[in-house]
Amino acid sequence: MTAAPFAGQSWGMTDTPDTAAAADIAALSFEAAMGELETIVRRLESGDVSLEESVALYERGHALRAHCEARLAAAQARIEQVGLGAAGQPAALFDRLLAVPQDPRARLYEAMRHAAIGGGKRLRPLLVCAAADLFHVDRQLSLRVGAAVEAMHVYSLIHDDLPCMDDDDLRRGKPTVHKAFDDATAVLAGDSLHALAFEWLIDPATHADPFVRSELVRELALAAGPAGMAGGQMMDLMAETSNFDLPTVTRLQQLKTGALIGFSVEAGAILARIPAEGRRPLRGYARDIGLAFQIADDIMDVEGDEALAGKALHKDADAGKATFVTLMGIDRAREQAGLLVDQAIAHLAGFGEEAALLRAIARFVVERDR
Ligand code: IPE
Ligand code: IPE
Ligand code: MG
Ligand code: MG
Ligand code: MG
Repeated sequence: MTAAPFAGQSWGMTDTPDTAAAADIAALSFEAAMGELETIVRRLESGDVSLEESVALYERGHALRAHCEARLAAAQARIEQVGLGAAGQPAALFDRLLAVPQDPRARLYEAMRHAAIGGGKRLRPLLVCAAADLFHVDRQLSLRVGAAVEAMHVYSLIHDDLPCMDDDDLRRGKPTVHKAFDDATAVLAGDSLHALAFEWLIDPATHADPFVRSELVRELALAAGPAGMAGGQMMDLMAETSNFDLPTVTRLQQLKTGALIGFSVEAGAILARIPAEGRRPLRGYARDIGLAFQIADDIMDVEGDEALAGKALHKDADAGKATFVTLMGIDRAREQAGLLVDQAIAHLAGFGEEAALLRAIARFVVERDR
């Protein structure tokens, strides 16, 4: 799973853990273990450590590292369960939902499949599943909602790449839909994925309760429309010719990118019938990771690797677009993204180990290289 979250992460140590590892490590959260590991590394690097102490520190660090790796492996296993498939992997649910009919519409379905299957980080379905897991929602339900929000996202990418918008040739390491097919087919493939997202949500297979289904439809409509993604895309085009200030760019990004991320997180709680006031911490988490995600996208546009990203970079500066990076500079932007991740994780303080995957995703959104 080459483009999967965490794929690029390495803790630089691969030996087996020391058997004398303290039993208390098993009870540590990922953050606590990483925090202690960093303290140990700093202490060892200081040079002011006796031989006995450095041996003890090394053994403790070894055990902490093994604990962190086990946590990451567990998180990765859960990511693979998400089942929509990452780059190069079979995507069983999309394969079924986008089965190609034997009639003249086949080309339309092929175009949708080209865009939706084989590639992408699947961040939004992962968020739906991770949030729904907090409340023990049946994975079949969260996967369907994940497929719906991914379809909406993929539609936005197809249209975003069109010659009349960003005019891009490469997406998810493949030719964009209008390049592989043609402009008209790309428009229709986007239109169809947009409609299918709602069709899948309103299907009783998504949830037995029609009130839950209608709330999902309403929230996705808000997140995708002029008060959400499409509105943000309009502002993004205006950002090429206007001198937007930081609050305006922040609002732009909250709409363009944050709204669908927000829907993804909240949908997990909606599936569990958690009332709106009970979703507040998750909304705070989503707002912060949404902004951090877009700052990371803007940084990647400046200093990323096109081969890894699978899309054209260095587009924002060429277009003269106001982004977090042009307004803050790359160092401050990176610092802000880190603060937003800490803040996102702090919103989850009321949850225990069951929120480990959401915490790991928060870190991933800024550490990613694609
Ligand atoms: C790219 O989204 C477009 C933005 C909203 C910045 P992703 O970075 O999630 O793209 P995929 O889904 O992995 O292709
Ligand atoms: C696209 O933003 C966001 C949406 C499709 C809603 P960008 O234009 O920055 O995304 P990339 O960089 O092409 O993925
Ligand atoms: Mg764009
Ligand atoms: Mg673009
Ligand atoms: Mg971008």
